[in-house]
Amino acid sequence: MVVCHCKAINAEFIKNLFAERSFTVSDVTEECGAGGDCGRCLDVIECMLEQSPMERGTPVLVGVS
Ligand code: FES
Repeated sequence: MVVCHCKAINAEFIKNLFAERSFTVSDVTEECGAGGDCGRCLDVIECMLEQSPMERGTPVLVGVS
């Protein structure tokens, strides 16, 4: 699902950012540009942030299966 149409950033890309560390909406914009143009995607990004494992305090183990 495309989250930011201005920058062609999809949900998977943003979720992968959240897996690396805790992000704010501004961090996401700085990292990939999402939200930096028209801003219509900011609410979606914020909602994704609130639902991210890092935000909920659950550690994410990357590369562990
Ligand atoms: S849709 Fe994300 S900045 Fe326009």
